Amino acid sequence: MWGCPTPFLSRQLQDLRTAIEELADGLEVLDRSNLLGALVGSLDLRTLPVHRWYYYKEGFSPHLPRLLLDELGAGASRVVLDPFAGVGTTLLALQTHPGVSAVLGAEHSPFAHFVAMTKLGSLGLDPRVLRHHADRLVQYRTDFRHVSVPSLSSFANEKIFDRRSLYDLLGAKDAITSDPILNERERAFFLLGLAAIVEDVSGAMKDGRALRIRNGRRRRPNALTPTAGASAGTDVRTLLRNQWLAMAEDFASWTAGCDGHRPKTTVARGDARNLLNLAGHDGRPLLDKSSVGLALFSPPYLNCVDYTEVYKLELWLLGLVESHEEFRTLRQGTLRSHPSITFPDRRRTFDGRALVFDIVDSLSEFLEAHLSRPPVGRMVAHYFDDMYEVFVQLARVVEPGGRIACVVANSTFSRRADHQASQMEVWRVPILTDLLLARLAELAGFDEIQLWTARQLRPRNITDGTARESIVVARKPQQ
Ligand SMILES: C[S@@+](CC[C@H](N)C(=O)[O-])C[C@H]1O[C@@H](n2cnc3c(N)ncnc32)[C@H](O)[C@@H]1O
Repeated sequence: MWGCPTPFLSRQLQDLRTAIEELADGLEVLDRSNLLGALVGSLDLRTLPVHRWYYYKEGFSPHLPRLLLDELGAGASRVVLDPFAGVGTTLLALQTHPGVSAVLGAEHSPFAHFVAMTKLGSLGLDPRVLRHHADRLVQYRTDFRHVSVPSLSSFANEKIFDRRSLYDLLGAKDAITSDPILNERERAFFLLGLAAIVEDVSGAMKDGRALRIRNGRRRRPNALTPTAGASAGTDVRTLLRNQWLAMAEDFASWTAGCDGHRPKTTVARGDARNLLNLAGHDGRPLLDKSSVGLALFSPPYLNCVDYTEVYKLELWLLGLVESHEEFRTLRQGTLRSHPSITFPDRRRTFDGRALVFDIVDSLSEFLEAHLSRPPVGRMVAHYFDDMYEVFVQLARVVEPGGRIACVVANSTFSRRADHQASQMEVWRVPILTDLLLARLAELAGFDEIQLWTARQLRPRNITDGTARESIVVARKPQQ
């Protein structure tokens, strides 16, 4: 994992490595890759009914929340919380589970929040009515004089949208939002279908950390095709109708298991670093102290992905962001897992001395001094400061004896230099995020900490080697 650093830096890296090994001492690590390997990734989100309505590549499998719930229980309260709810995978997966009384979530992105709430709110819609509306809506007429183009520059970039696709997308949005017949849940259903085809009709692609111009590169389509009544074509109207019909087909399998027990499900828009201040839809606090039996979640990974940037087409198209000011504020409110902007000052809330923070600071200082992009080094310290705050909040809302399960992947940072007409790795630093988070959870008051390893990923930025994806499991002690 540590590669072969140049002799100049090897002493410093050896000291770091020794300190990290000390941190790992005594931690219980269980290889659970057989069970978890396929569940920590997002592949199932492409195929499972309703979950597949919008493919969120940062999500985990809907089978994972059920498995974690079966293994860890939901405490006396039987309340499950996902503080990084994304597109609502946990909530949707547990929405009929007999072992829970409520599934609650928090999510910062208005777009992911919209996807989650739309899916959860669609239960009970009538697929025959939806099909009828789909056929009616797809015949919308675009009035070019009244369509307003979002002020995000991507919508004026002809490499991203040709004029025809752009006006078809905006015309569809206008038709859905101004339709006098749809109720609000139906409207959200059709808008979600629109968001799901945007990337496919654009010349852009979500590529790792950013939305990039495709330039002829291959892209896996995200838009759905119904098993019956599909039309051929790649234009906006054809893709939209196919997407809506495919979404409507999911009701047959989805509603089958939904007749009986229905836990309360809701996602609040807000910050996982401030859980006790989240408000539910009725305006009342979403969470009380010691009210959650199981918190299961996957935070943004330490991989420089700026979610606001990656999902900007959807955010602006749906009108969830309308100005650059709003867009900047949104980016600044995310967990500090990316270095693409300057965040407002936020001090570390832990003010004592702890080995885990000493190591975080050493890693951060090393990277700041030796990476070509020093802000990446600062990001490392900020990320763990933020995650410590999340654990402190969780220690307040989780009941005594309750559990947390945090899905996360490790990262590797490296530096290369020119050497005889090729690039040679000068040093490499693995960031064992799972281990650092385990110790931060402990510092925040959790015990019985375990690492369940799930699979090995191949980082893009190093030629050989792997990075672990795992689940940090911990318990809030009984008082
Ligand atoms: C790894 S994804 C979680 C995906 C989720 N498990 C699912 O299946 O949809 C992390 C999520 O955290 C959200 N996020 C980023 N900063 C946040 C914050 N400060 N508070 C709450 N959510 C945040 C991102 O928008 C993203 O949706």
